[in-house]
Amino acid sequence: MVTRTSIGPASASPRRHSRTHPALVFGLTALLAGAGVTALSGTADAASTLGSAAAGKGRYFGTAVAANHLGETPYVSTLDTEFGSVTPENEMKWDAVESTRNSFTFGAADQIVGHAQGKGMKIRGHTLVWHSQLPGWVSGLAAGDLRTAMNNHITQVMQHYKGQIHSWDVVNEAFQDGSSGARRSSPFQDKLGNGFIEEAFRTARAADPAAKLCYNDYNTDGVNAKSNAVYAMVKDFKARGVPIDCVGFQSHFNSASPVPGDYQTNLQRFADLGVDVQITELDIEGSGTSQATSYGNVVKACLAVSRCTGITVWGVTDKYSWRSSGTPLLFDGNYTKKPAYDAVLTALGGSGSGSGGGTAACSVSYSKATEWSDRFNGTVTVTAGGSAISGWSTTVTVTPPQKISATWNGTPTWDSGGNVMTMKPNGNGTLAAGASTSFGFTVMKNGSGAAPTLGACTAS
Ligand code: XIL
Repeated sequence: MVTRTSIGPASASPRRHSRTHPALVFGLTALLAGAGVTALSGTADAASTLGSAAAGKGRYFGTAVAANHLGETPYVSTLDTEFGSVTPENEMKWDAVESTRNSFTFGAADQIVGHAQGKGMKIRGHTLVWHSQLPGWVSGLAAGDLRTAMNNHITQVMQHYKGQIHSWDVVNEAFQDGSSGARRSSPFQDKLGNGFIEEAFRTARAADPAAKLCYNDYNTDGVNAKSNAVYAMVKDFKARGVPIDCVGFQSHFNSASPVPGDYQTNLQRFADLGVDVQITELDIEGSGTSQATSYGNVVKACLAVSRCTGITVWGVTDKYSWRSSGTPLLFDGNYTKKPAYDAVLTALGGSGSGSGGGTAACSVSYSKATEWSDRFNGTVTVTAGGSAISGWSTTVTVTPPQKISATWNGTPTWDSGGNVMTMKPNGNGTLAAGASTSFGFTVMKNGSGAAPTLGACTAS
């Protein structure tokens, strides 16, 4: 077990809350993928979720995830239904994975990665080199040793997840707030100088050439002295061939730090340097229409910039947000969709349920139960999304010459070929928000052990 007392952000910016978090205990649970759950899931009609609507625009829509909530059914069903990408909120940070020098602990991060992979989600890596959530032993090193430790950290962590991470935040928050445009004081900056950022990116490219390498920061969302300084660095990197692929804009907003009027302009000028831009930690304090409008504006800005490849919100539900008192996310503490959710879905070109009710969502997942030489049993779990549902329907397709020979806990109908089964509830199909039910079936192999494919879950 790793026990971590989280460290609040060190910045003096007024919108950066210096709240103290309770100690979080991360269980080193085995990979979920080990449970034999096959990676199949589907959701209601194509553009009725954030992830599917964003995919329709060629983008991902993700969320920060905390491993210690993965045992909570409505948390997981909202995650699985709505999002196509995850960022571990704390589990890949230096203090979580290398609290003791050269002794790496990946349990909690692996749990998130395993879950995401089981659902076909993308994974953002966050973060390799940052002044915060940094163990004391790192700050205590002299320059030469610190350089070795930094490069070893990057290499070990990236190699552990090699080929599995879509984008890595290689360096996080290396610039000061305010008008100076200077680098922030940190053990890396103070002992290694400006060159530490370049060195980190070069090391990262060697460790996992397939991962996109991002610089990530906050208060860089509009055109200002801090973003100008980051812009100059990225421009210099591109000119000199230092490997950098993307810039992350954290986008933590509130009334003191609202969405800048030149947000899109700023994203575009970075994109014009030849890097992708990503919105990496979006949350907007507020409620109702004004919060919804701000969210919609952020999404529209991203969609207007062709190199804005995706958006990540910094948490699933207000109740677990790092700034929960500001209710900055898309789902409230009961996983009910907020007006901000509707605004995001609409801006993404999606349609569907929304906070006002209407067609609710559900998701489905498959696991294989008992297997014999000639047949196996399958179980499909149907889970309601953030609202209660009164009925559901999903399809199970087997590969001919396989045949489904028996079913239970559902009412099946068949297509003419006999290999696509549409399953509906047996009688009462009511499920509370986040609640689950299961049905089962037997597949006669007839020579093929192929896993069945699930279609989308349609709720009513
Ligand atoms: C925050 C997490 O959300 C909190 O749980 C933790 O206590 C502190 O860090 N910028 C970042 C993120 O890059 O890693 C921070 O996440 C929020 C600010």
